[in-house]
Amino acid sequence: MKKVGIIGYRGMVGSVLIERMQEMNDFAAINSTLFSTSQAGAAAPAGIPVSEKRLADADDLDALSAMDILISCQGGAYSEKIHPQLRQHGWQGYWIDAASALRLHDSSVIILDPVNRAVIDAAIADGKKDFIGGNCTVSLMLLAMGGLFAQDWVEWIVPMTYQAASGGGAQHMRELLIQMGALAHVAGEDLINPASSILDIDRRITSLLKNDALDCRHFGVPLAGSLIPWIDQAWANGQSREEWKAQVEANKILNRQHNPVIIDGLCVRIGAMRSHAQALTIKLKREIPLADIEAAIAQHNPWVRLIPNEKEATIHALSPAAVSGTLTIPVGRLHHLAMGKEYLSAFTVGDQLLWGAAEPLRRMLAILLN
Ligand code: HSE
Repeated sequence: MKKVGIIGYRGMVGSVLIERMQEMNDFAAINSTLFSTSQAGAAAPAGIPVSEKRLADADDLDALSAMDILISCQGGAYSEKIHPQLRQHGWQGYWIDAASALRLHDSSVIILDPVNRAVIDAAIADGKKDFIGGNCTVSLMLLAMGGLFAQDWVEWIVPMTYQAASGGGAQHMRELLIQMGALAHVAGEDLINPASSILDIDRRITSLLKNDALDCRHFGVPLAGSLIPWIDQAWANGQSREEWKAQVEANKILNRQHNPVIIDGLCVRIGAMRSHAQALTIKLKREIPLADIEAAIAQHNPWVRLIPNEKEATIHALSPAAVSGTLTIPVGRLHHLAMGKEYLSAFTVGDQLLWGAAEPLRRMLAILLN
């Protein structure tokens, strides 16, 4: 059995990964070790069916080098520090990583096997060893639109995103809920009194949103009752880094950096918990009947689900609330836009902790084991 080390199993992405690996019985196929940066030597959690019952030291190059495969959910700073040391140490194993640090290195492949299995297989055959999960928004967009890319129908895409709090991290999810609670609290009993004035309630809410009294230490400003049209740091040409990733990562995943599809839009944080949504404006290379577009999208992978462009189906199936905790990638609101028959509108949602983070990692492990 291959020796597989998992680093950062207690964090949010690591926890989701472990849950999925348990659900899919992945531990039965590996000799597994959990690595910790702070608790080496302690007993591994009883609930995880790990082979080695003690936690190993995530900074011990010899212990790490004893593994055939390492999966890191420990974050970019750890990857930047440990990965080069391991390679210098002579380690030849496979490195699977959730963090963005190594994504754009020439020696790395961005993994999203329902979309780029051929790229992954070619990289393995070529001796590549570093397999890195993509940005969540990019991965979710490609899973949704995989059929259109496979047909090479796309000239450009403008994604306008509605990104959940979880993309910021566990503390951001807590902060959103604390803010929601504070807003409900200031509305008080007036909320259940139909005779109360909604404008009075709104005045108190607006005052709380504006008077710096809400806990905003992670987002910097209120997210509950508002939104934040900027994600990550400033990049070039007026883009945020999150917006810049769309074109760069998508084309690397598709292995078409030489002939890139133009992808550019705005990334916006909204008060959803863990599922990102995106409104896509797509310029097709030519006019294609809607039925053909729907068929290409629906047939691309088993997780995509076409939602009829009708109100009831849309509001029930095409939302973060409907999708969170599942691997389903609903795609709806499909119609040609008034700009012309080559212009297509679509809306899609996906769980950013599952397909957006953990699932491509455990699937990459399965590919390496087979
Ligand atoms: N950067 C993403 C976000 C999450 O902030 O929503 C990770 O890909």
